[in-house]
Amino acid sequence: AKTNFVIAIDGFSSCGKSTVAKALAKELNFVFIDSGAMYRAVTLYFLRKNIDFSNLKEVDSALSKIQIDFVPNGSNTEIHLNGTDVSAEIRQMYVSEQVSEVAAIKAVRVAMVAQQQLLGARRNIVMDGRDIGTTVFPDADLKLFMTADPEIRAQRRFIELQAKGEHTTMEEVRANLSHRDLIDSTREESPLRQADDALVIDNSNLSQEEQLNLVIAKYQAIKLQNA
Ligand code: CDP
Ligand code: CDP
Repeated sequence: AKTNFVIAIDGFSSCGKSTVAKALAKELNFVFIDSGAMYRAVTLYFLRKNIDFSNLKEVDSALSKIQIDFVPNGSNTEIHLNGTDVSAEIRQMYVSEQVSEVAAIKAVRVAMVAQQQLLGARRNIVMDGRDIGTTVFPDADLKLFMTADPEIRAQRRFIELQAKGEHTTMEEVRANLSHRDLIDSTREESPLRQADDALVIDNSNLSQEEQLNLVIAKYQAIKLQNA
């Protein structure tokens, strides 16, 4: 019988998924996996190697040369691409601009979903992404679907990128979020959509603490029910 607890968090870009996922993992002592970081790492590799995304042979051969690892470092988790920490680089705008195109490729999704399912087997985990509650872990014990007002999301992401010293404009950030949301929710292969049994959280007006408390309460209710 299944003994682990899986929390799946999905939603559009910059809705606070990874913020709440990280806080939850810390609070519950679960493993946190940022599935978006994996698609970003693949995209970084494709860009570095000048892979033609439309050439399936090139894509397949590149995928066979990619090793992605999550490496704990203190209270953080680094993402390594073929042995090198790429955590900062994958967040840069030039990766964000191509990641949804790469994540729409079937071979890329098949490879990443398989790896995500392995990472979540027999462990208590929190995983955030776009298709976690629908495709990766359709039997997750708790599914969340996060939303927030698009303008608030763009503002939050803009502030975050500025703090990292990235030269970008509010207009660029807004355009990137709506571009990715459109591709992510209309692609053929496991598009972003809300699972029927997901708890929907609009955090437009919630603080990080408020959203965490809401989810913890839900988690505790499920634990009681299952006991
Ligand atoms: O920037 P943000 O945190 O919103 O995005 P992310 O979670 O880092 O994901 C980057 C991109 O990866 C998304 O825009 C999707 O195109 C793709 N992705 C996906 O297709 N499926 C997932 N489970 C996670 C991310
Ligand atoms: O993972 P996802 O792309 O959904 O979003 P995120 O990276 O967790 O959150 C995007 C930004 O919104 C971060 O800078 C968070 O600190 C901020 N945020 C916030 O200000 N208030 C919340 N209730 C949730 C997130």
